[in-house]
Amino acid sequence: MARDTQIGIEEESDATTWSRRDFLSLTAWGGVLAFLSTMLVAFMRFMFPRVLFEPSPRFSAGRPDTFQPGTVDTRFKQSQRVWIVRYEDGSFFAMLAICTHLGCTPNWIPSDRKYKCPCHGSGFYMSGLNYEGPAPRPLDRAKISLSPEGDLVVDKAVLYSMKPGQDPDEQYPDSLLRI
Ligand code: FES
Repeated sequence: MARDTQIGIEEESDATTWSRRDFLSLTAWGGVLAFLSTMLVAFMRFMFPRVLFEPSPRFSAGRPDTFQPGTVDTRFKQSQRVWIVRYEDGSFFAMLAICTHLGCTPNWIPSDRKYKCPCHGSGFYMSGLNYEGPAPRPLDRAKISLSPEGDLVVDKAVLYSMKPGQDPDEQYPDSLLRI
């Protein structure tokens, strides 16, 4: 009887030992799998980096004769945040529709011949010169040129950043395209 009890204890002990071994083995494999999964995720992130594909800063604005002298053309305001302005003398410039106060988008008001910012009320003349509200300086311009095919090309990578208190045409005569 005593011997039967001892055998029972040994079997139970063996069963417990195996169970513990299984548990440890399972834990080890779990660790290996977790490690491999982490490495796989890291590898996938490496293969697909977080790259921001920005649109080109250059765009074609079309034929110069589609722009009326003495007007501000708003065709590219929505898509490019740029106005193409043509003075009465036929010269062009491209101006960023970005308020120099806090970056809101002003509106061109043809009846008043001015740009008005809806955020804090800054006002700018047709040339971009600021004259009212908190904007500290005139609106900036982008380079405008003529392509070999004769189209207007605006390059927002080349900016004419305006200083305060000076007429934009005088600050950057190069920002004007005369054709
Ligand atoms: S952002 Fe234009 S006036 Fe403030």
